[in-house]
Amino acid sequence: MSWQPPRAPRGTADILPEECARWRHVEETARALLERYGYREMRTPIFEATDLYVRGMGAETDVVEKEMFSVGGPKGAAGEDERAYSLRPEFTAGIVRAYREHGLDKTRGFLKVYSIGPLFRHERPQKGRLRQFHQINVEALATGDPAADVEMIALARDIARALGIEGFRVRLNSIGDERCRPAYRALLRERLLPRLGALCDVCRARYERNVFRVLDCKRCVALTSDVPPMADHLCEECAAHFAAVRAGLDRLKIPYAIDARLVRGFDYYTRTVFEFPSERLGAQDALGGGGRYDRLIPDFGGPEVGACGFALGLERVLLAMPEAAGPASRRAAVYVAATPEPGAREAAFAAAMELRQAGIEADLDFEQKSLKAQMKAADRRGYRWVAIFGSEEIARGECTLRDMAAESDAEAQRTLQRADLVEGVRRSIEAARLTS
Ligand code: HAM
Repeated sequence: MSWQPPRAPRGTADILPEECARWRHVEETARALLERYGYREMRTPIFEATDLYVRGMGAETDVVEKEMFSVGGPKGAAGEDERAYSLRPEFTAGIVRAYREHGLDKTRGFLKVYSIGPLFRHERPQKGRLRQFHQINVEALATGDPAADVEMIALARDIARALGIEGFRVRLNSIGDERCRPAYRALLRERLLPRLGALCDVCRARYERNVFRVLDCKRCVALTSDVPPMADHLCEECAAHFAAVRAGLDRLKIPYAIDARLVRGFDYYTRTVFEFPSERLGAQDALGGGGRYDRLIPDFGGPEVGACGFALGLERVLLAMPEAAGPASRRAAVYVAATPEPGAREAAFAAAMELRQAGIEADLDFEQKSLKAQMKAADRRGYRWVAIFGSEEIARGECTLRDMAAESDAEAQRTLQRADLVEGVRRSIEAARLTS
């Protein structure tokens, strides 16, 4: 028996050509909106020193503790460092590292950037949760302005809307900063101490190390229902910031629900945190999430400036999108079909090349298919037009152009002078654009 390759690793997915069209539609829609809002693309490595995430996201967060794909550095090799590296589980820490490393804090100051690409977390795979997944990630660096928080949420809403996702919702909270968090942490621990024995195993460990996370545990909801919300214990500055964010959302008429249990999973968050739940998603219901992280730039040795951002999970966006949403089903492109007669395939190949040189997408058959099968292939692959080359047409210096979107057979076909093919296709593309 021939050797069978192993299957794709658990929690990864192949994105086949038909699905790629939907992926690209999402990415291109997001890019257009991000650029409209003044964000520019930034790309960072797919792996970074493990330390970056330990220090950036926090040693005691689930992702850093249990979910990173890490490898040790080459030990002892002359001149090589011996660090461990991890596949990036998120973008934010890498973006802030690059911002500092290139002195952008000094040369640029305020910076709006976005990234789109794969991330890696060793989670238990389920619907909407993979080990290799993708995000559209957005950051505004070096700003403490609550308007930046509002803009993030408005932008996420606009991306969801442009993709036809209905029922966009916002869960919002403020988790304060290093001034008001310690007192709230103490209060939370005091309240939970008598119930420690009743908390789930995970939360008992969290009680010691990161008591805020007890609030977002679904199993311990009943035990934390009477805990006063963090939003009532904010210092004056954090309260004013939170009020400004809410007022900004109100002015844009973006509805949100204050959720005192929303604490988010990483240590870098301060003040505003938010998530975008979607009913279409099931258990893993967050389309995306983010918030402010005012300590990360200073903690990485940079100036005392704040920042905020969010990320949308691409797989989840695709799950939440209506089936029909996606790129137009027929592309403004030409499939060049040929009859089996001598010379026809060569004529078709030359025509396809000529169309491509003229900037028009064109393709043809490479499997010696019959004319009928070529027409089917063109239809299945979403070509709007088929240019047909048979020996008779070739002898007359003509070709036939068929519009696959025509309502009736009578409207579908016309004969073109071969020399006019490119021009004829151009006119058809223009006419189709005007009527669409
Ligand atoms: P996050 O909440 O960990 O935030 O991830 C954001 C989104 O990525 C999630 O809401 C979800 O849609 C998607 N996502 C996360 N993990 C998975 C997974 N295993 N499979 C599929 N999708 C997943 C962050 O990553 C922050 N860095 C966002 C941010 C940017 N905060 C400030 N700036």
